[in-house]
Amino acid sequence: MATVFVTRRYPGGALARIPAAGHTMDVWEEDQPIDRATLLERAREADALLCTLTDTVDGELLDACPRIRTVANYGVGYDNVDVAAAHARGVAVGNTPDVLTDATADLAFALLLAAARRLPESMAIVTEGRWGAFKPDGHLGRDLAGATLGIVGAGRIGAAVARRAAGFDMEVLEGTSRGGTPLPELLERSDFVSLHVPLTPATRHLIDAAALERMKPTAILVNTARGPIVDTDALIAALHAGAIGGAALDVTDPEPLPADHPLLAAPNVLVLPHVGSATTRTRGRMTELAVGNVLAGLAGEPLPHAVPAPRA
Ligand code: GLV
Ligand code: GLV
Repeated sequence: MATVFVTRRYPGGALARIPAAGHTMDVWEEDQPIDRATLLERAREADALLCTLTDTVDGELLDACPRIRTVANYGVGYDNVDVAAAHARGVAVGNTPDVLTDATADLAFALLLAAARRLPESMAIVTEGRWGAFKPDGHLGRDLAGATLGIVGAGRIGAAVARRAAGFDMEVLEGTSRGGTPLPELLERSDFVSLHVPLTPATRHLIDAAALERMKPTAILVNTARGPIVDTDALIAALHAGAIGGAALDVTDPEPLPADHPLLAAPNVLVLPHVGSATTRTRGRMTELAVGNVLAGLAGEPLPHAVPAPRA
């Protein structure tokens, strides 16, 4: 029977299906991600790898662990996996789409609302004992109804955000590389801009200084996709200059963001620790999909959620 190396304690119980199918399972039990050298060592004899965005899977790793035929990434994004290098070695790569669409769209909306209504600073007023009295002209935020939300990347998650926006009576502009509203126009017209593209060479720093300059000085940028889609230095400069109204980020570059990072000292910024899919049910379903990919790969079957070959 085969050996599976599992890089984290993935929640929900589905991991038990691996030993139940007769395979040997080796789990990295620590809370912190496995370091590179230990990963290369521990996965040396593995036939399949169940990993996530904190694990870099590239040609070097696959050459050091030559038995691996299946890489099941826990997450919908797979920019941590060099898919071309895997396919060139006959290694199938899988991800966990669909099950996290609603949770991630919910979190995008939570960020949008929190920034629009200034929740973090309002809560601080209460917890720090600065709440004097109801204040007619205090803590004024922004309305969602009637505001324009620009959705960059209208895949599954972008579409789910658009459905939520309809319920809040927002106007929606959708822009993708294949059509919709062109990005410059979307940035110029939107009161809120939410990013839902995968991280690829084409989307790295898609939101750079020039893109931020196009946004309204009141606009709020929401990122639940991947940190490097935004040029962090340009974002810090734009926030200080008042070129945009604020940023609400579940993902950052670097990640994790150190507490003394200048982004956290910029005005009107709200940062969460990459929790887009972090609900009990969703994280459990992601484990089910990843384990399904592992078991199919070990059985010599196509992965139920295979990642396609990168476009040349
Ligand atoms: C998490 O960020 C994911 O890609 O699922
Ligand atoms: C991810 O599931 C996307 O297509 O947006």
